[in-house]
Amino acid sequence: MTSRESLPSWLQLQKHSETMKNQHMNTLFAADSNRFNDFSIKLPSMLLDYSKNLLTDETLHLLLKLADECEVELWREKMFVGEHINKTEDRAVLHTLLRDRSSTPFIVDGKNIKADVQSALKKMESFTESVRQGSWRGYSGKGITDIVNIGVGGSNLGPQMVTEALKQYSDNRINVHYVSNVDGTQIASVLRPLNPETVLFIISSKTFTTTETMTNAQTAMEWLVASSFDEKAISDHFVAVSSNKENAIKFGIAPENIFDMWDWVGGRFSLWSAIGLPIALDLGFEQFIEVLEGAFEMDCHFKQTALKDNAPVILALLSVWNCTFLGAQSQAILPYDQTLHMLSAYLQQAEMESNGKSVSWHGKEVPYATVPSIWGELGINGQHAFYQYLHQSNNIVPADFIGSIKSVTPLKGHHETLMANFFAQTQALMEGVNEEQVRADLKAKGRTAEYIDKVAPHKVHKGNRPTNTILMKQISPKSIGSLIALYEHKIFVQGIILQICSFDQWGVELGKGLANKIQQELKSKTISTKHDSSTRGLIDFYMNGL
Ligand code: F6P
Repeated sequence: MTSRESLPSWLQLQKHSETMKNQHMNTLFAADSNRFNDFSIKLPSMLLDYSKNLLTDETLHLLLKLADECEVELWREKMFVGEHINKTEDRAVLHTLLRDRSSTPFIVDGKNIKADVQSALKKMESFTESVRQGSWRGYSGKGITDIVNIGVGGSNLGPQMVTEALKQYSDNRINVHYVSNVDGTQIASVLRPLNPETVLFIISSKTFTTTETMTNAQTAMEWLVASSFDEKAISDHFVAVSSNKENAIKFGIAPENIFDMWDWVGGRFSLWSAIGLPIALDLGFEQFIEVLEGAFEMDCHFKQTALKDNAPVILALLSVWNCTFLGAQSQAILPYDQTLHMLSAYLQQAEMESNGKSVSWHGKEVPYATVPSIWGELGINGQHAFYQYLHQSNNIVPADFIGSIKSVTPLKGHHETLMANFFAQTQALMEGVNEEQVRADLKAKGRTAEYIDKVAPHKVHKGNRPTNTILMKQISPKSIGSLIALYEHKIFVQGIILQICSFDQWGVELGKGLANKIQQELKSKTISTKHDSSTRGLIDFYMNGL
């Protein structure tokens, strides 16, 4: 397998990027009145406009050539058929199977694992119905009013992001809460107003070893038993989602209350499995299925569409272009839809835990920048906080703008104001305004020559800042499924192009291991392992500083 930097397309892109760095998007728009049509893709639930990027037909041609030389289509096939493309963990990557709505069986080692998925969905359905209809009873015979999902990372962000996004679709029959932080302040404040008799805990942990989750689960169990005075109550109030049944049982979860997960589903790609239970409990099972259907629709698009018209492929190529070739170091996610307020947090894990790596799948350091750091905030809030930086700092931050044609909460005047800003910002970031225009504008406003000289340089916006616009028809269970799957496949393609193992996360292990040792030291109040002087000094101050 050739290294990426020696591919003809890579070398051509490098050369081409030097020319493009001297181009301004204003010139590209002026030269081509069809640019929007040429560089946008319409999908059933959204439109992707990527014309406000520093690219030409030639750029796109070279990027697609790169995708071709990296055998993206072949790798796509390998993923969908279940080859072990998670090389370092020797696992298949099959989150797409969880939302495959076709009736085709999926045979692995002579076993139809699609049937396992279907039976897991059936179990979710009957559990969801029994809780929502009130037939699942707590220890004192009362129905369930509140769900507390205890989990972190992929066992938290996906379900929480989606329940937040779909709040308007909930009948509010069940209140859903999330606990992810091991800081006791969170679980204490979640539990404080709740009645243990009517609370059901979901302990979500693929490995069932994550210290933070186990600590919170233990506290929750003690809280329940302090009320029920009987450990038998646990089976009425605790269910688990895990691929480590043994640990879950050891922890005290009744075997029949355990929902399966499989090693071929990565934590950050798992909201489509029983990890999505809080979504189903909040919205009802039918709407959870719509989320799966939306994702399946995007899977079909990704699988069947030529690369040049393939939205996830284009997003991945643009990220590689902006970051690896044009030198951007971060990427902003800017939703103009309140429902998506957790999207950037979700995508931080999805993209950075997947591709934030610097060793190729051959085990060699890669000599190029891989993925940017992902950050963001609701667009309007960002405008009044950090957009100054986006418009005028020396660092170029490519940004994804995500908005909706129709609001889920249509209050008079609000949506137009919101969307006017949405459209204005990408135009401003792209066009900018030069000194000549600034001066003319100030003069037209009657400003003195002295004032104009002083202020004009500060009002210049260079523009030429790349953005993608994703215009959703409306946030709904189906469209949110499609949106998430769009980004999942983008991340996959990015990984293939950069030769990064997207489905492991070794980089989280070192800190975890050290924390375990330090935890023992804090417990025994003795520093017994070797630390650098800073860490040792800090631990010592922590132990004796009050
Ligand atoms: O520490 C990172 C991580 O392993 C994530 O990849 C994962 O989503 C999260 O922790 C939670 O893991 P688990 O579901 O096994 O508790």
